[in-house]
Amino acid sequence: VDLTSANTLGLPCRAERVVTVSQREQIVSLMQQGAGHQDTLTILSGGSNLILPEYLPGLTLCPQLNYWWLELRGEDALVHVGAGVVWHHLVMSLAQAGWWGTENLALIPGHSGAAPVQNIGAYGVELAELLESVTVVHVEDGATQMLAATDCGFGYRESIFKGELDGRVIITDLVLRVGRRSRARLDYGDLAHRVSAEPTPLEVAEAVCAVRREKLPDPEVLGNAGSFFKNPVVAADIAERLLDEYPGMPHFPQGNGRTKLAAGWLIDRCGLKGWRNGNFGVHERQALVLVHHGGGSAGELLAFAAEVASRVEQCFGIVLEREPRLA
Ligand code: EPU
Repeated sequence: VDLTSANTLGLPCRAERVVTVSQREQIVSLMQQGAGHQDTLTILSGGSNLILPEYLPGLTLCPQLNYWWLELRGEDALVHVGAGVVWHHLVMSLAQAGWWGTENLALIPGHSGAAPVQNIGAYGVELAELLESVTVVHVEDGATQMLAATDCGFGYRESIFKGELDGRVIITDLVLRVGRRSRARLDYGDLAHRVSAEPTPLEVAEAVCAVRREKLPDPEVLGNAGSFFKNPVVAADIAERLLDEYPGMPHFPQGNGRTKLAAGWLIDRCGLKGWRNGNFGVHERQALVLVHHGGGSAGELLAFAAEVASRVEQCFGIVLEREPRLA
């Protein structure tokens, strides 16, 4: 099965066997039958944060649980979401209906089931703040478990699903909390200038879409997986030393003796913005995004990324960590 168009990087990939499931019970029964004991099991969601190899052996499972509904709770609502729901569609539907919560996370590619894995975040909001629970099916025996958000080990682009539970569970459902009362979060960048004084959630979502469209390449046009590196979080004194040399460097103290730096700025300052080598390049409007011009492979992409990271390390002594996951 050809998965080239099933990953936003557009990397060529052939899978041995692909199974699409639309209900949690189907996943449960596949795992009970031992599908998870085969040599390889890959979960393919929206393919927007994934680096696929040229050949994927074993079973590739695509959870297409495409339902969502609201449970009203006074001024709030709990949103029950199946893993296959396109995240951006959910965000726009909620914003259109006047619910606050997810609007800053508009236009993030991918399906809802992948959102907790890297704790998607943008424009000052992280999924973890909205999440109530995540339901998973265990690969080992098909057991279903509901994890409270507080048990998911969320951090910046981190979760238990990347750590302890990596490869051990399949996310099938999320519950998010949204609200009627305005809680616009406009402190990031120039978001506040792009909306009216008392914006609706839809206005904020549309402003976020506009900002993203200005900077981030559309995967339909140019293959990419969004930010290719995490923003490095370093000891405050390392940040201080760099600030002596580069007073304009963006930096975000984390309040725990550590400071987050902007990987895009570091790459940009090494003169790599717009740099291209073979089939891959550094995006010309946002240096944190690596783009695939076509004809390349996962191996080439990883070599290109290693070159970018090594130049940043030479320039600043900072080690960048990859963000998209290897299948
Ligand atoms: N910057 C540059 N040059 C660049 C890119 C950025 O100087 O080429 C500077 C910007 O001027 C700004 C700072 O670096 O001062 C941060 O840039 P930006 O606001 O574009 O955000 P980011 O830190 O590069 C993060 C997320 C994005 C998210 C934005 C907005 C990560 C790894 N990335 O990017 O998430 O949309 O903030 O909140 O945390 C993603 O994960 O795929 C993603 C796109």
